[in-house]
Amino acid sequence: MIQFGPVAKERIPALLSIAEKQLGDSYIRVEDFTDPDRLVYEAVSEKKAIGFVTGKTLSSEDFRTNLPKVFEALSRRIHASRMIGIVGSIAVDSLYSGSGVGYGLMGVLLDELDRKSYETVLMLGWKKRGASRPEIAGIAARYGFEAVREFPEYWKEESQKLGYRCPSCGDPPCLCDAVLLVRCKVCKDS
Ligand SMILES: CC(C)(COP(=O)(O)OP(=O)(O)OC[C@H]1O[C@@H](n2cnc3c(N)ncnc32)[C@H](O)[C@@H]1OP(=O)(O)O)[C@@H](O)C(=O)NCCC(=O)NCCS
Repeated sequence: MIQFGPVAKERIPALLSIAEKQLGDSYIRVEDFTDPDRLVYEAVSEKKAIGFVTGKTLSSEDFRTNLPKVFEALSRRIHASRMIGIVGSIAVDSLYSGSGVGYGLMGVLLDELDRKSYETVLMLGWKKRGASRPEIAGIAARYGFEAVREFPEYWKEESQKLGYRCPSCGDPPCLCDAVLLVRCKVCKDS
């Protein structure tokens, strides 16, 4: 049976190993799991970590500072005073792929954001080089996310600066695209 819940400290090394394989070397760090300002959930099967999702909430000021390209793309859709929920990263051990783990993790995070009344949730879907859509697209669509904009080579500069190694591109720069996915109950059309 698969269980979902807040990340247990003793499973962080296993979660980092899943992150490294699925999202790339140095992309996710220990602090991503321990930062009290983040919402982080794990999926566990027989006490073994098999996946995780990270999220956070941002004021519109933080949103503008942390994700300037996305803020610019959405400024007409999102009211300036609104708090934004963010789906950060999601990854599942490939041995368990296609078993509903990613879907379950996303559900746990969105339930928490719904509980906190975040009406707008954003996610940058990683579209690997050469892929026609982000791997998360099917799950995102099931939860009502809409693809709003595509950012070519979104992580190019960041991957060079921070030195992370994309599983698809190898050594920096990462040349994958990002698709901005928005789940918004009260947005205006752009
Ligand atoms: C993307 C990723 C997290 C998906 O995890 P997963 O556990 O394999 O996904 P699931 O089994 O929940 O979903 C697989 C498919 O079944 C569907 N599905 C899941 N639960 C379902 C349900 N209860 N009923 C019907 N369909 C369901 C999903 O919509 C998805 O559809 P798709 O084939 O159109 O994509 C995983 O493949 C991964 O770690 N990829 C590499 C990292 C990555 O790309 N992360 C996303 C960054 S934005």
